[in-house]
Amino acid sequence: MTSRFLFHGRWVAVLLILVDCGDFHRGPAPDASTDVAPVPVGDGGAGAFAARVAPVLLANCDRCHHTGGSASKSRFVLTGDTMTDRMALLPLVSPANPAASALLVAALGQGHGGGAILRTDAAEYRTLIDWISQGAQP
Ligand code: HEC
Repeated sequence: MTSRFLFHGRWVAVLLILVDCGDFHRGPAPDASTDVAPVPVGDGGAGAFAARVAPVLLANCDRCHHTGGSASKSRFVLTGDTMTDRMALLPLVSPANPAASALLVAALGQGHGGGAILRTDAAEYRTLIDWISQGAQP
């Protein structure tokens, strides 16, 4: 009968976690300085690159930033392979100062051959800066 009690206890714990996640999504943005644990589902946590970041880059940057494109000689050339593309991006991002990341500065048009592609109030910009500020995870 002890094991039966434990079984029920585990389901209660699972339910509590689910309820917590629901609150997390509805609540205000997490404070990055206190929220150090990897966030399994979120704007910029683990899994975000393939799910959210790569699609933004492919939709907004790939027309120039691909092999043979006008930006093919830059350090930022997309291949469509998420592992390769994330690794190539790491020198262009600054998790300690996300807004200063070369990737974002260029996307806003500063010193960028492609001009202004994104605005700071765009959802795409928010996706990129969230991902960078959470450590530019895979
Ligand atoms: C219309 C074409 C075009 C588009 C679209 C474009 N770029 Fe560029 N980008 C360029 C060109 C051309 C260069 C090379 C000249 C330069 O460094 O500005 C460049 C350079 C860069 C660099 C400098 C890379 C290095 O070698 O240091 C970054 C970072 C960058 N772009 C980011 C972006 C991002 C992020 C997007 C999408 C949000 C984007 N670009 C969309 C044309 C484009």
